[in-house]
Amino acid sequence: MITKINSVGLSGIDGYYIGVETDISNGIPQWEVVGMPDTAVRESKERIRSALKNSGLMIPGKRILINLAPADVKKEGTCLDLPIAVGILASSEQVFVHDMDKMCFFGELSLDGTLRGVKGALPMAITAYQNGAKQLFVPIGNAKEAAVVEGIDVFGVESISALIRHFTGEEPILPTKVNARALFEQATDELPDFSDVKGQESAKRALEIAAAGGHNILMIGPPGSGKTMLAQRIPSILPSMTFDEALEVTKVHSIAGRLPKNMPMVVSRPFRSPHHTVSAVGLTGGGSGIPKPGEISLAHHGILFLDELPEFRKDALEVMRQPLEDGTVTITRAGGTYSYPCNIMLVASMNPCPCGYYGDKNHDCSCSASKISSYLSKISGPLLDRIDLHIEVPAVDYDDLGRKSTAEPSSEIKRRVDKAREIQLKRYSGTGIYSNSCLTAAMIDEVCVLDEDSSELLKNAFEMLGLSARAHNRILKVARTIADLSGNEKIAKENIAEAIRYRSLDRKFWA
Ligand SMILES: Nc1ncnc2c1ncn2[C@@H]1O[C@H](COP(=O)(O)OP(=O)(O)O)[C@@H](O)[C@H]1O
Ligand SMILES: [Mg+2]
Ligand SMILES: [Zn+2]
Repeated sequence: MITKINSVGLSGIDGYYIGVETDISNGIPQWEVVGMPDTAVRESKERIRSALKNSGLMIPGKRILINLAPADVKKEGTCLDLPIAVGILASSEQVFVHDMDKMCFFGELSLDGTLRGVKGALPMAITAYQNGAKQLFVPIGNAKEAAVVEGIDVFGVESISALIRHFTGEEPILPTKVNARALFEQATDELPDFSDVKGQESAKRALEIAAAGGHNILMIGPPGSGKTMLAQRIPSILPSMTFDEALEVTKVHSIAGRLPKNMPMVVSRPFRSPHHTVSAVGLTGGGSGIPKPGEISLAHHGILFLDELPEFRKDALEVMRQPLEDGTVTITRAGGTYSYPCNIMLVASMNPCPCGYYGDKNHDCSCSASKISSYLSKISGPLLDRIDLHIEVPAVDYDDLGRKSTAEPSSEIKRRVDKAREIQLKRYSGTGIYSNSCLTAAMIDEVCVLDEDSSELLKNAFEMLGLSARAHNRILKVARTIADLSGNEKIAKENIAEAIRYRSLDRKFWA
């Protein structure tokens, strides 16, 4: 008898429909899987055989042909264990199920018949729903994650036996319920707050601008000046995520298998701070089998913080350049191309020199000029080129640290950031960009118009400071954000002057 079981697979951040057709016929006992199965899928036979045997069921001693449709897409991983097992049980008439065409199945089997959770349950559940399934059967460990999707009943299955008892009506499984919107709306973050940071007003101002325009930022300062502390507080001033953004971030974390057990959704903007020993694959994604999303994708819609930038492996930083520019990571494999989103704000920190104290008023720098220049050359020009703001974070005076903090809380800074973002969203509505950081050269000409005075200032700055030509567009974008923060449609001369200050390090270190 031929049966068809609905299932889903993963490709990048999205799922796709897989039909599992099983034909059991008389003939020499054999088992064949066609439709581009990878090794893991071909090996499912052994897992399924044990799982069924240990659940008091069996694989019939007949000719079994399994066709995975569509035939021209490579099927990967262990998710097809469950639908193949169900197909065999149905084709050999060991179970009888009504409305099988409205059901969808995925999950890995253990030899004892229990089901193991798989990665990517959320995107796969979304695909099951989009393909019209009404009921989705998944490993119990994936149930909550899958149940984030509305409009489909998700059944968390512990084992093949439990599934059989559900089908016979002996012990029905109840659908798992998750109210994703409520989870999202009720989420309260205990984020570190800018009110903890004493002094550092100009660094905070620059971070506010970076947050308001979605600009990448590099902080340069001696050890202990508070760079890490400042970076950790940026999430508290970013605009809150929308529900759709949260879903997209959750998909990436679902594929990476990084969702916490008790929380099926990512509800706040990610803040990823990988260690500087991270590999190129760890940073941007890849690896054997289905490629894993890297840190840059786990930070999607949030912040990727590279603390102590020059310590990172040069090859890892190199491969990050294109994704930073595109907002997507593309991984090409023999079996196909995968892409993961990585729309991030890059925040980086570094010391000004190997000893850390170049330019510090309280310590002497012990580094030679050549040591400093080889230290700085570790971060490539093209990467730096994608960072709109470079700021100096000097050590705070001892007296300032002793004082009681009267610093502004993050909530007030966030209010200004939100307002500036609203202005940008309105201005760029329909253009496919969301913030000033994404402005293309053509759009800069359109929205960053300068009056004669401001043009003159910019021109003089170029000549006097010896700025590079590519700094030009960066200054204009940042000036646009500064004007948006003050609610002005026109970019004022002082906005340009301030934006130039955030490039002065170009001149100091990299001219
Ligand atoms: N402006 C500041 N206000 C309050 N505490 C600070 C400030 N700057 C530094 N600190 C304290 O010094 C510690 C070290 O700062 P850190 O952010 O690690 O410096 P860096 O990353 O620049 O080396 C912080 O954890 C914090 O306790
Ligand atoms: Mg630090
Ligand atoms: Zn030094």
